[in-house]
Amino acid sequence: MAPLLPGSRVGIIGGGQLGRMLALEARRLGYFTCVLDPDPRAPAAQVADLHLAGGLADPVAAAALARGVDVVTYEFENVDPNAVAAAETARAVHPSGAVLRIAQHRLREKEAVIGLGIPVTPFAAVRSASDLGAAIERVGLPAVLKTAASGYDGKGQAVVRRWADAEAACAALLSRCDTLIVEGLVDFELELSVVCARAADGTTACYAPGENRHSGGILDLTVAPARVPSVVAARAQDIAAVIATGLGVIGLLAVEMFLTRDGRLLVNELAPRPHNSGHHTLDACPTSQFEQLLRAICGLPLGATDLYAPAAMANLLGDLWSGVGQPDFPRALAVPGVRLHLYGKAEARPGRKMGHLCVVAGTAEEASERVLQARGRLR
Ligand SMILES: Nc1ncnc2c1ncn2[C@@H]1O[C@H](COP(=O)(O)OP(=O)(O)O)[C@@H](O)[C@H]1O
Ligand SMILES: [Mg+2]
Repeated sequence: MAPLLPGSRVGIIGGGQLGRMLALEARRLGYFTCVLDPDPRAPAAQVADLHLAGGLADPVAAAALARGVDVVTYEFENVDPNAVAAAETARAVHPSGAVLRIAQHRLREKEAVIGLGIPVTPFAAVRSASDLGAAIERVGLPAVLKTAASGYDGKGQAVVRRWADAEAACAALLSRCDTLIVEGLVDFELELSVVCARAADGTTACYAPGENRHSGGILDLTVAPARVPSVVAARAQDIAAVIATGLGVIGLLAVEMFLTRDGRLLVNELAPRPHNSGHHTLDACPTSQFEQLLRAICGLPLGATDLYAPAAMANLLGDLWSGVGQPDFPRALAVPGVRLHLYGKAEARPGRKMGHLCVVAGTAEEASERVLQARGRLR
């Protein structure tokens, strides 16, 4: 394929922060972007060259976006499959609609990963309340019930420790989604993720694994490189590359994993897009995950993924805005080396990702301490 050179037009389905950081990197590299989102004030719409107003479930809008650009990608996983299919009739969409279809559904995702010989968390499907008993018996308690589709940031999930809780959670979640998955609650040592890029010629490039801490189901802190033995880091990268290759991804694939206390890596979930745990690559790597996505979908060589130095990223949720108006940015920015990224969201709601802070430092510990110190100063 002839590369799409700078000056080409990239269509982005979804106007959130991932699309915003992608559009900013595209602009630096001399590409034009058009963002499809219903909201003209959406984070990515504010910085793209063009905003196309339309719903993310609207095949007519997606096809119109595709016709106006040279290649299409998405920054949001819950785009309607029919909209992606409509875009694919006009232009290449990367990663493909087939990849997205797998990543949108936790059961398809687990089966695809198992099919590649890679271990996943113990799971069972629940399609009606009558499946619950056998499913819980299979995975044991405590367990996590999740809607098979449409979950993010811990939404559509319930941790259950007793049978009675499982029944109540199952009824509530089945009213939101016709298929659930029950997973054994993994007592992990830590959570890791690897962002892997794959080009059309099959080459792959993985970033160092990030070590992730979640709070209330939402990513709170990523430290890179993850503080794990180098064999574990290499194995995590290998898993991500095998999945990206097996699924035929062109673009990015983020793979979330649990490192168990006995040293095994279990895949938790996949995201065929830039990932929150890869935001530090903007500040700590020669090629950010957003530039890497552009390179992959435009047929350019993949860029270097090494870390200049250890980095830590802390999310800024809307809770930091509650009651006080703006957080105390000047105090946080007085911490040496801290970089502030804000997404341009007008309304701060609890749990809403408003921005992040990143610190690059001599060691992972120092980066992590400084980013948390800076965030602590926001209140
Ligand atoms: N089976 C599990 N065992 C232990 N913790 C889990 C399990 N599933 C999810 N979690 C925790 O909840 C977080 C969010 O769940 P995840 O499946 O990644 O959904 P999403 O990120 O789409 O909301 C995980 O990062 C992890 O901290
Ligand atoms: Mg997740």
